[in-house]
Amino acid sequence: MNEKQRLESNQVNPADKKSEKDYSKYFQTVYMPPSLKDAKKRGKEEVSYHNDFAIDEQFHGMGQGRKFYIRTYGCQMNEHDTEVMAGIFLGLGYEPTDSVEDAHVILLNTCAIRENAENKVFGELGHLKALKRERPELLIGVCGCMSQEESVVNKILQKHQHVDMIFGTHNIHRLPHILNEAYLAKEMVIEVWSKEGDVIENLPRARKGSVKAWVNIMYGCDKFCTYCIVPYTRGKERSRRPEDIIQEVRHLAAQGYKEITLLGQNVNAYGKDFEDITYGLGDLMDEIRKIDVARIRFTTSHPRDFDDRLIEVLAKGGNLVDHIHLPVQSGSSDILKIMARKYSREHYLELVRKIKEAIPTASLTTDIIVGFPNETDEQFEETMSLYREVEFDSAYTFIYSPREGTPAAKMQDNVPMEVKKERLQRLNALVNEISAKKLKEYEGKVVEVLVEGESKNNPEVLAGYTEKSKLVNFKAPKSVIGQLVKVKVTKAKTWTLNGEMVEETAEVK
Ligand code: 5AD
Ligand code: SF4
Repeated sequence: MNEKQRLESNQVNPADKKSEKDYSKYFQTVYMPPSLKDAKKRGKEEVSYHNDFAIDEQFHGMGQGRKFYIRTYGCQMNEHDTEVMAGIFLGLGYEPTDSVEDAHVILLNTCAIRENAENKVFGELGHLKALKRERPELLIGVCGCMSQEESVVNKILQKHQHVDMIFGTHNIHRLPHILNEAYLAKEMVIEVWSKEGDVIENLPRARKGSVKAWVNIMYGCDKFCTYCIVPYTRGKERSRRPEDIIQEVRHLAAQGYKEITLLGQNVNAYGKDFEDITYGLGDLMDEIRKIDVARIRFTTSHPRDFDDRLIEVLAKGGNLVDHIHLPVQSGSSDILKIMARKYSREHYLELVRKIKEAIPTASLTTDIIVGFPNETDEQFEETMSLYREVEFDSAYTFIYSPREGTPAAKMQDNVPMEVKKERLQRLNALVNEISAKKLKEYEGKVVEVLVEGESKNNPEVLAGYTEKSKLVNFKAPKSVIGQLVKVKVTKAKTWTLNGEMVEETAEVK
């Protein structure tokens, strides 16, 4: 019996003896907890594609007179999933709300990448306890990456009994069934498939905004970097078929979207799972650049699979932006090896050289982890020197956070937290220094800005991003929101630019 069949018959996973012993007696309805052991497996079975998603007739009108609220934590993939869940809620007749007080269903779409991301969610669950006490008919759900972790599900069962449902990243399309169960059941409904080989095509979407859109090109990750929980929470790599992606981008272009970001945990592995065609990210970008959308981006890249074909296509420019986010994680080949990144410092620098040679205007940003187990001062200095050498435009920097179930979490670590914090501070000072220096070069120049809306801090000012993802604040009439405009940069700050909108002038990237 496979996982789905077990679910259909509402049986507890017999392989999951510990959970069965601990909790199964409490569950008469759906109880399917996650298993990290199953999530680790990568079978040879083919990816199955489904085009038949539909909301079952029995659930039509379920949301009549009810409102939903989704809080999203973490990366763009979660934002994307939230848009799908919002689409399903609308299909069920629910209305959206911005306030938890008004909501009849609250979902926390969670992130498991670091411990502090998880702590925020547990904090929020604590706050929601009082609301549930006041309104017992309120449904509270936990979904996203944290729900794929056994330890999290056990903690919720022990300490947060006011949660009504937990469902996994592979179960989003099952939302109508899960809600239905939660309305009927007295117990917590748990439906977390640990392993998934499906791609479901026609899920509804309630997109946030009408200027920028995300388009998922693949799901999952098979890289298994030793520190990372994502391959366990998001399953194996599955690519969407090119024709489905191209059709979606065309449709968005026709709707007037100006910027599309192609999404995947490791987009450079796109197409590697196709058995009938040889087709990679470079090929896909070469097709998509012909569609009439002002800007096309992609994220996130893995240096190992970033191939010459992709560089050759990106060099064609046009609507393919010249900003590449290329996580390096460490500048030390020894640390990279223990991280199982499968490239060395030299390989990374060579890739950067090739990119800069083919696309001289290219700007690069990165992700860096400091304080990986047993990282020495010298190894950290290698990260600092690599950062200086590449001159990244900016970086997301993190202190290593052990994730239960990953190989790195089992490693002895002799680096004290104080040292890790110091390293992070030094790295951040360097990141700020180079970012400020690079932004300074923009003063007096004209940039093209895609106007997103009012600035967060000042509604009198508009804000938008350049092709290289620089945030620009400037005064202009609200009528330009959603458009590409030319802005003369008047002042550079550490992270952002101030400017004034100008008439048509020579374009500067
Ligand atoms: N600890 C700290 N940072 C992590 N990242 C992924 N896993 C961990 C972890 N266990 C960082 C990586 C990745 C980014 C999305 O999050 O830098 O690129
Ligand atoms: Fe995590 Fe590595 Fe996969 Fe990125 S490539 S999601 S860091 S395992």
